[in-house]
Amino acid sequence: MAAPLRAPKGTYDVLPGSPFLAVREALLGPAALAGYDYVEAPVFEDTELFARGVGASTDIVTKEMFTFTDRGDRSLTLRPEGTAGVLRAALQAGLQHGQLPVKLRYAGPMFRAERPQAGRFRQFQQVGVEALGSDDPALDAEVVALAASAYAGLGLTGVRALVTSLGDAACRPAYREALTAFLDGLDLDAETRRRAAINPLRVLDDGRPEVQAQLEGAPLMADALCDACRAHHEAVLGHLAALGVAVEPAPRLVRGLDYYTRTTFEFVHGGLGAQSAVGGGGRYDGLSQELGGPPLPGIGWALGVERTLLALEAEGVAAPGAPRLTAFVVPLGAAAKARAVTLVAELRAAGVAADLAYGDRGLKGAMKAADRSGAAYAVVLGDRDLEAGAAPVKDLRTGEQTPVALDALLTHLQEQSP
Ligand code: HAM
Repeated sequence: MAAPLRAPKGTYDVLPGSPFLAVREALLGPAALAGYDYVEAPVFEDTELFARGVGASTDIVTKEMFTFTDRGDRSLTLRPEGTAGVLRAALQAGLQHGQLPVKLRYAGPMFRAERPQAGRFRQFQQVGVEALGSDDPALDAEVVALAASAYAGLGLTGVRALVTSLGDAACRPAYREALTAFLDGLDLDAETRRRAAINPLRVLDDGRPEVQAQLEGAPLMADALCDACRAHHEAVLGHLAALGVAVEPAPRLVRGLDYYTRTTFEFVHGGLGAQSAVGGGGRYDGLSQELGGPPLPGIGWALGVERTLLALEAEGVAAPGAPRLTAFVVPLGAAAKARAVTLVAELRAAGVAADLAYGDRGLKGAMKAADRSGAAYAVVLGDRDLEAGAAPVKDLRTGEQTPVALDALLTHLQEQSP
């Protein structure tokens, strides 16, 4: 016999009983309330979109993309992140010609060929928001606040928001030069020098202690902002303070993507070990032009669903559950079975979550199925009950049994529905 097949390395299955879907939806709840419309872009795009969008110096583009050639000899890549695709979709649809900012939310799988470990997968799920077409600092604050309320709404208390400004086209070039001059004086290997030549900021993100030790006195972007970037950043911090969103300055924060300008942030959680980032994002005022579009400022974030689940676990917070069944109908006998089939259809049409014991298993087996179904009530329907016009409804938590007239069953169960 052939060996049983397993999910590919770095992937996992969402299985019954998982809070995955409820958590994913909860993370986007505040964005939906703030007018962010749902969008979906393809899971694969032209490779060039990510090469240009995410940036040639990033680990994502140089080492982690799942790239393949299709039958028409086109180079395609499974999306490693959502921002480039969502912006491409918005530009392609001309959304920038309508009301601004365009506010979008999305959810779905992303793919990075990273070394799998706890909280790090090759296919993982993000939820995200992107707000396009405005450089209003109040929008930056809204975006950061939406993530903070998404975490708080799930009951998480240990998420910290690290915020900094990465400057813009006016002040970053001079800072880059200063940083490059500083890095030139250090003892770095050839690969690191190569990265530094493409994007010196990347080196600040190098986790190796021997590199970090040399970076102690490195110049920081936060100290080199131009007046406009400084004013923008102060305005963002002012709005966040007024909104009651606690943030921590993070002048050494470097993100794994090259498109950021000005406001840049990460959400970290102490209970996750090495992969502490539960979410991150920032402004990307030059990305539209990188993609061949018009000048169009933007800001957004993406939150990792798996890491949010791990954070809930680390804090011992119960994740929101899947909606429970209200009724589980147990038919005993042929006539009762026929009626049960139409009864569950009627219950579902009336908005009552209902299921039925398939397989004609007899009372014992069917009641076991009712218990396992997680339903609140079992409706035990025998042929004799049909004739009598009433059936016992059993509360599966207390075991209490109440006879309910069949023609009142629907309203009775509707009243018990959440
Ligand atoms: P990112 O920081 O690369 O940003 O990813 C956002 C979040 O996705 C991370 O904080 C983490 O929770 C999760 N994540 C990333 N890689 C993995 C992985 N291999 N396994 C599990 N979870 C992972 C972005 O992707 C940007 N597009 C965010 C953004 C939106 N910036 C502006 N708009």
